[in-house]
Amino acid sequence: MQNNNGLKEALKTPWIYDLFQSFVGEKRARKWIARNIWKCNSGENIVDIGCGTGLILNYLPDDIQYTGFDKNENYIQFARKKFGDRGRFLVGTPSDYLKSGESELNMADIVLCNGLLHHLKDKEVLEVFKLSNRIMAHSGRLVCIEPSFLAKQSTISKWLLSQDRGGFVRSEKEWKEITGKVFSSFSTSIVTGLLRIPYIHIIIECNKVSG
Ligand SMILES: C[S@@+](CC[C@H](N)C(=O)[O-])C[C@H]1O[C@@H](n2cnc3c(N)ncnc32)[C@H](O)[C@@H]1O
Repeated sequence: MQNNNGLKEALKTPWIYDLFQSFVGEKRARKWIARNIWKCNSGENIVDIGCGTGLILNYLPDDIQYTGFDKNENYIQFARKKFGDRGRFLVGTPSDYLKSGESELNMADIVLCNGLLHHLKDKEVLEVFKLSNRIMAHSGRLVCIEPSFLAKQSTISKWLLSQDRGGFVRSEKEWKEITGKVFSSFSTSIVTGLLRIPYIHIIIECNKVSG
């Protein structure tokens, strides 16, 4: 579900989305995440669920095998023009891939999910987790970065999060509960100060469940 008015509607346009990201400090944030959290190595197979305009590729090594998919065709066309020589960009949803048993996404060293899950209902989040677990290599991991409410936080930060385009920003406790429904081994960290605005993020890192 998305709240669709004003700026929120404009953000569906690829170049406006990228401009907004730049305004809130996306570059510095992604550099920090790439160095400290994603830690992708050359040659790794990366699947990016809800890849948007493919901006993430500015922060990943050149010689990875990258596949990104997203339900927004305009974002995917934009990404293909800008980053088409760096990987594959597909139109689709986690639900589509889960149902089709798609094999071209298999054996991912890292599945990335950056700002997607807070757009999704619980049922769809569980589909993302199940698909991620299926397409991960044995030693693979899923890394999600999402906005999160805290048990106690400033009024301004709480208000900003409530304005998010995604309609499903969850609390730290809720993120942990839903992750635990699919993954038995995962860790979470709360990070503040990633963006120029007082936003709170949760980083969720999950290991493959075998069997
Ligand atoms: C906040 S944007 C993040 C985009 C990108 N990961 C990034 O870091 O710039 C959320 C993205 O999720 C995509 N999305 C939302 N629901 C989706 C779904 N059910 N399946 C695939 N993509 C979806 C949107 O089109 C959008 O590109």
